[in-house]
Amino acid sequence: MPPRRLSASGLLLALFCPLLLALSACGRPRPPGDPQAEADRGGGPLIGFAQVNHLNPWRIAETNAITGEAEKRGYRLLVTDAKSSTQQQVRDVSYLLARGVEYVILAPKEFAALRPAILAARDAGIPLILVDRMADGVPGREFLTFIGSDFTREGERIAEWLAGRMRGAARIVELRGEKGSSPEIDRAVGFRRALQAHPGMLIVASSYANFERLEGQKAMEEIILSLGRSFDAVYAHNDEMAIGAIQALKAAGIRPGQDVILASIDGGKDALKAIIAGELGASVECTPRFADKIFQVIEAHRRGEPIPAKIINEDRLFDIRNAGELIRSVF
Ligand code: AHR
Repeated sequence: MPPRRLSASGLLLALFCPLLLALSACGRPRPPGDPQAEADRGGGPLIGFAQVNHLNPWRIAETNAITGEAEKRGYRLLVTDAKSSTQQQVRDVSYLLARGVEYVILAPKEFAALRPAILAARDAGIPLILVDRMADGVPGREFLTFIGSDFTREGERIAEWLAGRMRGAARIVELRGEKGSSPEIDRAVGFRRALQAHPGMLIVASSYANFERLEGQKAMEEIILSLGRSFDAVYAHNDEMAIGAIQALKAAGIRPGQDVILASIDGGKDALKAIIAGELGASVECTPRFADKIFQVIEAHRRGEPIPAKIINEDRLFDIRNAGELIRSVF
């Protein structure tokens, strides 16, 4: 559901309509499942959440976790969906500020390009919490804190797992996430850093596939066209692209899990099913379920307590040894 944009007259209406936050769109009912409907429930503080998109299970799980936690704690929540547009996400943050939110939760699509949104919140005096992805700014001064996973470590863990599985020698295809996003940047850096200890592990192709399944499939098809079968492993920056790659490999008669070993990041249900089926080797968890920490930060900040610059989630690694036992615990 796209965020409702306010024109100049809409903005005036918002400022002078005291019932706006109590009545959705000044009286217009919203359908169930509309994230903005959350703003209409309860009488607690109004919080804004600027999401990148709802195109993959990870993003949907993150929004659901934040929505559920807000509801549990009695907050009103406005959710915007930038539909993968950086410019739109910058506008979404301005929209949330204009709606009078007390805090902005921002999952920034890109690292550098979301800086204007950080500065807009700072200039408005509204604390902004970066979640899951990092953006260009100074914690404690320009934004409140960052809460999420350690993407560099995720890349390192995949490299270590693959080096073990491939006994130190492999020709690796890398499927990278959204260009310029902190997970794409850091997962590439961490992977390369850990590979330095394994000179027989070589990256032979690297392609962007935007963290999306279909794009992962297409990127893999193109790589198969150019490399043929001359690769042994695939490192996908997320599960969705790995699952797309598995489909492309199978279509080309290459057996995932036998001819080519795949590893990815996120640790979602589909990935664990693929591990159990023997098609995916491993997935390092990047949990989208950390909304409790976000609201703990908001509450601590409201009480005037100091907030750490970074709060890093603890993530697991799934492979054939634990996927069956843990599949019920993942998103
Ligand atoms: O920022 C986290 C990443 O973004 C997840 O790995 C990916 O699936 C999502 O789109």
